[in-house]
Amino acid sequence: MTPVLIDCDPGIDDTLALIYLAALHHLGEIEIVGVTTTAGNTTATQAAGNARWVLDLLLIDAPVLPGRPGPRHVELTTTPETHGPTGLGYLEVPAAPEGPEGEWAAVWEGGVDKHPDLKLIVTGPLTNLAAFRHSHPEHYARLRRVTVMGGAVNYRGNTTPTAEWNFWVDPHAAAEVFGDPPAAGIRLCSLEVTEQFLIDPARLTRLVQDLGGTPIAGELADVLRFYFEFHHAQGEGYQAQIHDLLTCMIALGTVPYEDLSTTIAVEADSPLMRGTSVADLRGHWHRSHNARLVTAADIDAAHAELTRATRTLAARWPVR
Ligand code: RIB
Ligand code: CA
Repeated sequence: MTPVLIDCDPGIDDTLALIYLAALHHLGEIEIVGVTTTAGNTTATQAAGNARWVLDLLLIDAPVLPGRPGPRHVELTTTPETHGPTGLGYLEVPAAPEGPEGEWAAVWEGGVDKHPDLKLIVTGPLTNLAAFRHSHPEHYARLRRVTVMGGAVNYRGNTTPTAEWNFWVDPHAAAEVFGDPPAAGIRLCSLEVTEQFLIDPARLTRLVQDLGGTPIAGELADVLRFYFEFHHAQGEGYQAQIHDLLTCMIALGTVPYEDLSTTIAVEADSPLMRGTSVADLRGHWHRSHNARLVTAADIDAAHAELTRATRTLAARWPVR
């Protein structure tokens, strides 16, 4: 059973990722070791409250802890206009209390010590990952399976002309992590691939049906409607890009994908190019590779995988 730690900023697509992971947990395919949250779509404490709400509804008792309150070197920017006033679209649930400083890192430390095959999935800004590099350098180096959603690599951004949101919110964290990655490197799911995974009203209706009698099923319409409206206002159609759910499927190898070994760098200090990520695909920099960049994923398989996981969960509900 694959041990999984997710560091996220729910956030609407993060919420779908948590639902998927909860389903695999109940199916015995993974063990959710812990959930930590980073500030991005909303504050870290609100994201933790949102994550706790999802996991409580789905009877997952894994620890959920807020991570660092925000970037070290730039002001925190959140995006209520994208994910709703408190990150769950039109739904609002209480924020989590601030945990003791570093409590979240103890979950990461324990996860690395107990599970040499731990999969760490990061679907928000890299603030916590960079902080862990400073506070627990040996454990950071031992992180062997790290998958990140972030970056618009050699591709147009969704936050500035060249930057993707997660890397833009905390560009210094992203630059630090790719400047000194864990020994096994990082698998990067960047915007060019993740934005291909879309949910629209018809697919949402099917998802709610597939979730059957699970208590989260009846909540998703209010959560996703806000995200549909945001994408429609951006001229991207009345649908939603569910980046983080695809990232989890790639991290777990539950959908086919292609990747390549390369060197990624992230710009942190340039006002215009803040958060821009580049892959040295032709080896101009003569620097060692630090990432496996995902270049393609089977989107039809991803839709089928979501159906498989949710239908199987519903068939076993209520799980004991
Ligand atoms: O740019 C997309 C990423 O930013 C996703 O992780 C989404 O949840 C937001 O955090
Ligand atoms: Ca996210």
